[in-house]
Amino acid sequence: MADQVPAPASGTPAPLRLHALAYSLGVTAAVTAAARLGLADAVGEEPVRPAELAAAVGADEEALVQLLRALVCHGVFREAEEGGYAHTELSRLLRTDAPASRKAMALLAGAPFAWRIWSRLDDAVRTGESVFPGLYGKPLFAHLHEDEPELGALFDRAMAKSGETSAVAVAAALDLAGTDTVADIGGGHGTLLRALLERHPALNGVLFDLEQVVAHADPVLREGGELAGRCRLVSGDCHIEVPVTADVYLLKGVVHMWNDATAVAALRTLVREARPGARVVLVEQVLDATDNPEIATVMNLLMLVSQGGRERTAREFRTLLERAGLEFRSITATGSVVRLIEAVVPGAR
Ligand SMILES: C[S@@+](CC[C@H](N)C(=O)[O-])C[C@H]1O[C@@H](n2cnc3c(N)ncnc32)[C@H](O)[C@@H]1O
Repeated sequence: MADQVPAPASGTPAPLRLHALAYSLGVTAAVTAAARLGLADAVGEEPVRPAELAAAVGADEEALVQLLRALVCHGVFREAEEGGYAHTELSRLLRTDAPASRKAMALLAGAPFAWRIWSRLDDAVRTGESVFPGLYGKPLFAHLHEDEPELGALFDRAMAKSGETSAVAVAAALDLAGTDTVADIGGGHGTLLRALLERHPALNGVLFDLEQVVAHADPVLREGGELAGRCRLVSGDCHIEVPVTADVYLLKGVVHMWNDATAVAALRTLVREARPGARVVLVEQVLDATDNPEIATVMNLLMLVSQGGRERTAREFRTLLERAGLEFRSITATGSVVRLIEAVVPGAR
């Protein structure tokens, strides 16, 4: 099975395992370097010789082989029997044109700001707060949109592309029988909303996000056509006001950006105008019900260090929703890394 990745070596002594853990930042660097160099885009269906690959991406051949050795060790590319390097299932995801491509995510993961904030994780653990404002003078999203718009655009692309797989799973798992309008709050470029509108031909949607993000929403949702006809784009700051009326409010990967106090305040703002019985569905990883703790626990730290946020357990989600004045209903698996955590606005008959 040429495309599959090697199983991790077992029986490695503890000191070597810790050594490898401590230096795993080198793996992030290698994956990000591969994305920046465009290695995956330069490898087609046939294996490519190092000299040819080096010429294609503008690299030193020997240094490129050093990089490829590290990547191959983790299943990103493989050495072909006939010589040269070929794709694996992981390296294909670094291609720009791959469905659910992780190239933008790889560029984001190892971007300069990421190295800066991760290097201060111990400070975030001491204070319980994000290190971002101390380093950049303002919170993450203000910095992305005011000071580094290219990085902001990369962030939005990374979210949109990497969310494609889970959007389809969420659309399949979310029961929208009898629903007229769904609002995706902090919906980014509209990956999830598009999946929902495509799945339910009579559904209407509202995409709500910051102005700079909504302006670059998926063209299918904003430039005429059938889906755009059923979609309203609303920009604003969900900490101030959410002027949206809907039967279902979705927040995917949003509440984990915030600490409990901020999340409760934002949820209260969200449902201020909502009708009794409206559903609020958080779409998040659930720390004590995840099949992917290696992703959930690292995201938990990334949310802390970048925004003072956190992933949560099932009980913590329930408490959070109840503190926001909502009636907790259920947690539903989607078949992807995220679950649907559902509550309703009280007061319905
Ligand atoms: C982690 S991303 C998730 C995007 C999308 N829901 C997804 O799952 O791919 C968080 C989103 O919240 C938006 N956001 C952050 N602060 C916001 C605010 N104050 N008001 C509205 N949207 C905000 C960001 O622009 C971004 O699109």
